[in-house]
Amino acid sequence: MIVAIDGPAGSGKSSVARRIAKERQLTLLDTGAMYRAITWECLQEGIDPTDESAVGRLADQAHIDFGTAADGSQTVALNGTDVTQQIRTPQVDQNVSAVSAIHEVRKAMVELQRQMGAQGDVIAEGRDIGTTVFPNADVKIFLTASPEARAFRRTAQREGMDAAIQADAQVNAREQEKILQDLIRRDQLDSSRAESPLRQAEDAHHIDSSDLTFDQVVSQIEALMDEVTNA
Ligand code: DC
Repeated sequence: MIVAIDGPAGSGKSSVARRIAKERQLTLLDTGAMYRAITWECLQEGIDPTDESAVGRLADQAHIDFGTAADGSQTVALNGTDVTQQIRTPQVDQNVSAVSAIHEVRKAMVELQRQMGAQGDVIAEGRDIGTTVFPNADVKIFLTASPEARAFRRTAQREGMDAAIQADAQVNAREQEKILQDLIRRDQLDSSRAESPLRQAEDAHHIDSSDLTFDQVVSQIEALMDEVTNA
């Protein structure tokens, strides 16, 4: 089964996909991590993230491997270097929309994603999974939440908490406001770019997670998966 989960930053895609991958023994494909890894490499190499040909070359040559850490969490390696932590910095956040808007980058990443999905049992999350990467996915979800709810979750995550579990976590208000502004800016860039903008596939189920618990979102998606399996 292929499950596609798309939605804006902070909508809860990653946590939900991680949980379902574990419960249903599906391979987890965090496509945002791939765009982040390319962005990190650009910054390391001093390449301007808007320099399409230089960034495209880098993406063409990239080897990205997902692995599993001792605690069961997913790791990401780029050309043999573990970049799991490095790809979550504010600097990467600020530059990843520019990098992921480049045609050559998307072409290279979509090809890698399809290769990774070729074995079939995959839950992939990103922005264009249901529309472009796996248009024939068995279950497509478009997961959204209000910008405020998303900023809160991202801030809690940055501060080492899991908002999926600690819905009443106390976070730094200034930090939350900064993250909110960055999310709004990224939403705008990701939704308005020419190639594979963030949009809901026609056959995707829309779930707004603003007022749902993490477990409620997981069960709604698993129920949709069961419908397909039992059809
Ligand atoms: O889900 P995330 O925040 O880790 O994604 C990082 C960025 O990568 C996001 O701003 C948009 C881009 N992205 C994309 O363009 N296509 C995808 N399939 C996944 C992410």
